[in-house]
Amino acid sequence: MEQSLNHWSAYWRAGAQHSLPQDFEGNYDREIAHFWSEHFSQLDSTARILDLCTGSGAIAMLAHQSAPPGASIVAVDGAHVEPEALQAIWGEQSQTHGRIEFIFGCRIEALDEMRVGGSFDLVTSQYGLEYCNLEALSDRLVKLIKPNGKLVMMTHATDSDMSSTMSQEAGDYQMLKEAGYFKLLSSWSKNQISGQDLSDRLTRISNQLAPIYQKTASPLLAQVLETNRIVLAQPMGEIMAQASLAGAYLEQLVYAQSRLEDMRRVTQLVGNGDDWLQPLLDSGLTLQDSGETRIDGAHLAGRTWVLARPA
Ligand SMILES: C[S@@+](CC[C@H](N)C(=O)[O-])C[C@H]1O[C@@H](n2cnc3c(N)ncnc32)[C@H](O)[C@@H]1O
Repeated sequence: MEQSLNHWSAYWRAGAQHSLPQDFEGNYDREIAHFWSEHFSQLDSTARILDLCTGSGAIAMLAHQSAPPGASIVAVDGAHVEPEALQAIWGEQSQTHGRIEFIFGCRIEALDEMRVGGSFDLVTSQYGLEYCNLEALSDRLVKLIKPNGKLVMMTHATDSDMSSTMSQEAGDYQMLKEAGYFKLLSSWSKNQISGQDLSDRLTRISNQLAPIYQKTASPLLAQVLETNRIVLAQPMGEIMAQASLAGAYLEQLVYAQSRLEDMRRVTQLVGNGDDWLQPLLDSGLTLQDSGETRIDGAHLAGRTWVLARPA
């Protein structure tokens, strides 16, 4: 069954510019921006660029900055991101004067020339295509690339800093589940628990998590402990009146866990050698280059791939 992308829609709507908000204050910069600008700046002014799994459009925005002025950009994602959210995320930079055409709510597996108005000189994907079903989409995707055109990707990597952070976080979510935190938030959001019981159980969970946080300094545990502290500092009546906030917080945690599970799944996929690329090669692309990108020359941000469609 096709997995819903609601957890990604929620992430972009909450204001994220890209997948590494802890590493960059604004859009991707340094080596990641450099990698992409090298590809965009080689294009001519009539070029068409297609960014797949664009999220809130980080790579499309980089294309807008470094591709020649006449080049046009189409950016596609399966998640739903409203124009107002994009405006809030990019501020003045969102004034691209119609140069970027965003298509949301569209799975890459369903993409064809009709949907995107023809084929492209350069197709890009940052932490993107590895989330999709390559078997299902490769033949159609190759038709979207012009002869002599390229598919350039930066994918997750198993030995990246991000990958070890993800393993720790997965353990934290498991711990929260075993401590009954999700169930408690659910009961609270449905008004199925008394104020005293809620307060006792929140206190118990915080007492259980605090020593673990002392050892690991986990950002997720820090956030949960702080939330509990704020809640427990309020009078009982006020706590009980916040059932809808408890529901929203639970949804936020569940979505974050779903994104984490998505990222762990695809990180493992690309970490198991180059086999995951095979459907693209079977559909006629050739691998021209592969490598890795490190931020500040040190932290591994991902693996890079350049594939070409022969003439
Ligand atoms: C890790 S994010 C990367 C977003 C962006 N490229 C970036 O670097 O910030 C992965 C994106 O892939 C999208 N996605 C996952 N599976 C998809 C599919 N089958 N079709 C279209 N988009 C998909 C998600 O909605 C999400 O926005």
